[in-house]
Amino acid sequence: MLQTGVIDTYTPYSVIGGKPALEEMAQLPQADLPFDINDIHIEINDRGCAIEVPLDENEQLYGFGLQFGSFTQRGLRKQPIVNDNSLKDLGYSHAPETFYVSTKGYGIIVNTARYTTFLCGSNKKLQQAEQLAGTGSSKVATSTEELYQNRENSDKVYIDVPGAKGIEIMVLTGPSLQDVVKRYNLLSGGGCLPPMWGLGFKYRVKGDASQEDVLQYARYFRENNIPCDILGLEPGWQTATYSCSYVWNKERFPDHKAMIDQLKKEGFKVNLWEHAYIHPSSPIRAAMTPYSGDFLVWNGLVPDFLMPEAREIFTNYHRGLIEEGISGFKLDECDNSNIGTGSATWCFPDMTQFPSGIDGEQMHQMYGSLYINTVDDIYRDMNLRTYHNYRGSGLFMSYMGGVLYSDMYKHKDYIQALCTQAFGGLLWCPEVREASSEVDFFHRLQTVLLSPMAMVNAWYLRYAPWLQFDYDKNGEGIFLPEAKQYEDYTRTLINMRMQLVPYLYNAFYAYRSEGTPPFRPLVMDYPEDERVMGIDNQYMIGEGLMAAPLSDNENTRIVYFPEGTWYNFYTNEKYEGNNEYEINTPFDQLPLYVKEGTLLPLAEPVPAINEETTFKLHCKVYGTSNATCQLFEDDGVTYDFEKGKYNLVTLTAANGKVDLSRDGDYNLNRYEIADCEFIK
Ligand code: GAL
Repeated sequence: MLQTGVIDTYTPYSVIGGKPALEEMAQLPQADLPFDINDIHIEINDRGCAIEVPLDENEQLYGFGLQFGSFTQRGLRKQPIVNDNSLKDLGYSHAPETFYVSTKGYGIIVNTARYTTFLCGSNKKLQQAEQLAGTGSSKVATSTEELYQNRENSDKVYIDVPGAKGIEIMVLTGPSLQDVVKRYNLLSGGGCLPPMWGLGFKYRVKGDASQEDVLQYARYFRENNIPCDILGLEPGWQTATYSCSYVWNKERFPDHKAMIDQLKKEGFKVNLWEHAYIHPSSPIRAAMTPYSGDFLVWNGLVPDFLMPEAREIFTNYHRGLIEEGISGFKLDECDNSNIGTGSATWCFPDMTQFPSGIDGEQMHQMYGSLYINTVDDIYRDMNLRTYHNYRGSGLFMSYMGGVLYSDMYKHKDYIQALCTQAFGGLLWCPEVREASSEVDFFHRLQTVLLSPMAMVNAWYLRYAPWLQFDYDKNGEGIFLPEAKQYEDYTRTLINMRMQLVPYLYNAFYAYRSEGTPPFRPLVMDYPEDERVMGIDNQYMIGEGLMAAPLSDNENTRIVYFPEGTWYNFYTNEKYEGNNEYEINTPFDQLPLYVKEGTLLPLAEPVPAINEETTFKLHCKVYGTSNATCQLFEDDGVTYDFEKGKYNLVTLTAANGKVDLSRDGDYNLNRYEIADCEFIK
């Protein structure tokens, strides 16, 4: 850690972080920095803080939180600022971070909530330019792209933190890039372990759905044997929505308690949409007024979650909702977006003053994380894990059970974010809404089922998007003949997700205990392979699976296989590593590949997961006769595992069969072996 000058009262680490998993960090290999730490220069001047970090010719950089647009960051100028839209790849994002990692095996965190600019080798200072004099070209550009393309290649990352009177820089070591990321996740408290049901399927109903509509969706899933664990209610459950009252709307939901109880009986969890701008009619408005910023959003108060009083008012009220059976929230609009398209804004401005003394700029950068932590603390106090949706977060949030989502909807960007999420301890959900064709729909569905949260967000759709329909002359939806077929494909795909739940749960346990991102780009697993450095549309899931989603309307895609032998999950076709193949994936299959040597446990799908669920495992062993696989076994819903209440289950393949053994004395048998198959 480097420190100079007067550090801001509120920094991401002091406010959001500060719970490092020290024991686990001690298990990581030790490594030296590839440069002398004294070569990081910090200057405090009238403008703020100017930082210089060495940059080697051959290194590549990644990070800045969840990014849509560019995967590798070298040569770019990035401003990681919270916004609901990435606009022109400037660094704006729902979850930006002032943190980058390098292929040389180190990471740089600038611990500030001020709007910061990183020049990632994109700009040169005068002395450097003089050393390189004469490299100018005599070629005359004939297009603006050519004219303004970046021709610089500087040996420094320059970091500009305007307004700061001092700064803290955390330098993380590897040795490998994956080790840096693990260290970061453990520094943030260890990755999150969602409740087991959180890994099932989630469906969010239309915004104006009534109590009866919600119950009808529930019946639809159960009667049609389509697994579903969570139903999400969108704005219409409240009496006021933009801003929010947090009060059940009696007209649409005459007896919400009866509805929640009924859904519980049918095995559903209920998730509620809201945001943190408090409507004049809300029961907490008056109490919150002294603890809010001096600007309104949608006429709603902006609570200052740095004030213990504000947190208490908010949590006391929300505890009531949770005690009625709400198992998680969708914490929307907390990206407080102030860089809009056009002049419309729905945010508190940077000049906002908050009672805690923080200014609007720094509050903007941390607002999502503060809000999520406030709500999540209620669950932690109740010893319940949950898996929220939220639209804004940032540094040091690895431990938080929840996923980011977006209104942006480019499928290619959504796939890329499944790669960029991993550099900053984030989890991203490439949610499915409408689609331009059945090809587009199934490709999107395949992607989301191979992501941290398997969610269809039908917040403006009357029918589930797989039920293809047209409108009659009265504006009523009529189902097309292919609707049945598409429903069958959908069921098959969601069942496949359910088969993966025990495997995924263990990948999340590795996230929690070792910091290993459960979904991560190939560059983290194959750092020696230069060909994977820029691959932003394929990713590892756990230790043995690789996903290569198809996007848009393409029927086939090129898949790159790193070293080793790989198998097509469905056909068992083999692919030799260090090669590319063109592969077609039908609508009812997932674009999934298995690494040789993997023992893959596949659960018999269940309609929903609860504490009693036992998983019958069909074990597939790829290209070997001896393999092992670990599964994490606990109650799946509480934090008791932190007190040792869990078992580590080992599946061992040998002598043509798979055996199960348990390490731990927690009295639970969640996994049973049904059968096994050895694939040559
Ligand atoms: C958006 C959010 C959508 C949906 C909508 C409801 O901001 O991203 O997923 O919840 O609000 O108004």
